[in-house]
Amino acid sequence: MSEEKKIESLQKDGQIFMPDVEKREEAWVGGMDEYEVLHKRALEDPEGYWGERATELLTWFSDFDSVLEADYETPEFKWFSGGRTNVSYNCLDRHLVDGRRNKAALIWQGEPEEDVRVYTYQMLHTEVCRFANVLKKKGVKRGDRVALYMPMIPELTIAMLACTRLGAVHSIVFAGFSSIALQSRIDDSAARVLVTSDAVLRAGKTIALKPNADEALKDCPSVEQCIVVQRGTNDVSMVEGRDSWWHDEINAEDITSECPYEEMDAEDPLFILYTSGSTGKPKGVLHTTGGYLTYAAHTTQHVFDVKDDDVYWCTADIGWITGHSYIVYGPLALGATSVMFEGVPSYPNPDRFWQIVDKFKVNIFYTAPTVIRALMREGEEWTRKYDLGSLRVLGSVGEPINPEAWLWYHKNIGGGKLPIVDTWWQTETGGIMISALPYATPLKPGSATRALPGISAKIVRRDGSPAGPNEGGHLIIDKPWPGMLRTVWGDPERYKSTYFSGFSGAYEAGDGARCDEDGYFWIMGRLDDVINVSGHRMGTAEIESALVAHADVTEAAVVGMPHEVKGETIYAYVTLRSGMEPDDDLLKDLKAWVRKEIGPIATPEFIQFADGLPKTRSGKIMRRVLRKIVEGSDQFGDTSTLADPGVVTDLIEGNRDLI
Ligand code: WT7
Repeated sequence: MSEEKKIESLQKDGQIFMPDVEKREEAWVGGMDEYEVLHKRALEDPEGYWGERATELLTWFSDFDSVLEADYETPEFKWFSGGRTNVSYNCLDRHLVDGRRNKAALIWQGEPEEDVRVYTYQMLHTEVCRFANVLKKKGVKRGDRVALYMPMIPELTIAMLACTRLGAVHSIVFAGFSSIALQSRIDDSAARVLVTSDAVLRAGKTIALKPNADEALKDCPSVEQCIVVQRGTNDVSMVEGRDSWWHDEINAEDITSECPYEEMDAEDPLFILYTSGSTGKPKGVLHTTGGYLTYAAHTTQHVFDVKDDDVYWCTADIGWITGHSYIVYGPLALGATSVMFEGVPSYPNPDRFWQIVDKFKVNIFYTAPTVIRALMREGEEWTRKYDLGSLRVLGSVGEPINPEAWLWYHKNIGGGKLPIVDTWWQTETGGIMISALPYATPLKPGSATRALPGISAKIVRRDGSPAGPNEGGHLIIDKPWPGMLRTVWGDPERYKSTYFSGFSGAYEAGDGARCDEDGYFWIMGRLDDVINVSGHRMGTAEIESALVAHADVTEAAVVGMPHEVKGETIYAYVTLRSGMEPDDDLLKDLKAWVRKEIGPIATPEFIQFADGLPKTRSGKIMRRVLRKIVEGSDQFGDTSTLADPGVVTDLIEGNRDLI
């Protein structure tokens, strides 16, 4: 049967991949009966369940007084109140005495093949302490914010853990963001120190990074010091009195490898991570100490079934939440071995991932559907060149994985037998919420399967009433969990209105989904004006406001257009200032403009110049129509409120000319 036919029949008779029963005994949750018992227990007695997990997984300097204090009105959630702990202690110090001192904590594979660094727990501890002392010398104290704008190099992990050692709050800005995006994020969090690097090595090229930092710092009054890691060989200009080299700081005479950790309260802020929302301004999602770490460790253990001897590899960039939770905090809290990779899947050849799996004998591999689709196009020959026999669990995250990609992954990487855990979660949830448990959950390609034990995920209608089986609706979580975000930095109003105002007594995810008769979740995508490009969240409003900031643009509307590899790609409708004629130069100029305003990931793939946009009589742009046009559909629904229906015909023509 052809792949296509297989997929068709699979969808028709709802084919299920049953777990290998023989492997069950080894798995963390040993089957669906055990899952049901655990889930029921966790929902009936959440405080008992999460309290036990927090005690089992973390070391507390003093016990918490209560497990949960929840108030949906304010809203305010406190987990493990009164408990005192430290994240760097839990990720490092305690492993120095539990027999893992000389175990590899971090295996770093640089972009050049010969660049490999392995840090044992002891070595990582030493480096973290030294850098924590550097930060201390710079005046960084508990609660201060430190911005990290760095490539995927070990110093990033070291800087994160150094912040947590001092109780400082890190705010990582993905190195692919532009100086303008960096500036607004630093400014919003009022960071005192910026850690960056001279360059990023990517696909054989050296891309300067420090100039972006310099540009941003022109308008960041809060930043007193900038520490620069040397990664490339390019010339760097250093600002006297503000900038210094990481290696000079670390090697200074008064920097020692002893640095006491701060005893933090469970609810002390741990990090801020900015994410796109439906308005132009990114939200600073705040995670706190005890709940976040408990949840990251708990989900790493349950979902990836990490064993002490395993090599575990999550291919995400630490600039996104996936890297925070599943390269650094979850695995290190468990004392696992985590692989960190600087390069890209396609360079020098589209077999780089499989070569690394073979090289380090990776057991657990976690990546994104967009990567699978891109590698799938290169042909399966690339997967055959290496021995992938060490693999035991495969994971997927970022967007729904289409059955075709699922089957390819399963067959070519999983040898037709490994479980694929399709993990649904968000920056805001801190960790995985809906996912299969390996060797326990029967799998349906394309479904993230069931909510994890203790996670109360529901599909509801707009009025809050429960949706029936297979009826599309809003995905909500109506019980708190330890990894939930605690606020939007500096904007509690937005925290409330975005997440807790839609449905009373519940967290609103912003995704549309359905739940089938077996309780399996099928995520359909964002319900707000957020698009998902290669598993990265982009706010359409953010791109629109970048476009209209250009002198020649009067109006812009951005929508996601279905894309074979990226899931969605960015499609912008632009109206120009009167008298302006669109041409290729302007087109290039606008793309470069968005790159500069936000970063390469936000660059529209298509820009359609239009005389007008479809607006209702009240002046609201009808995005639904714009989305339908890029999907090539003419099912526009009710367009009776449009002020000028003629606009739509023009737009369809313009779209045909472009695609
Ligand atoms: C949005 C969150 C959480 C890590 C990566 C992205 C989409 C994420 C899945 C999945 C279907 C998924 C959702 C979600 N999403 N994972 N397995 N199946 N959709 O984090 O940038 O906060 O984006 O990504 O739409 O809301 P993020």
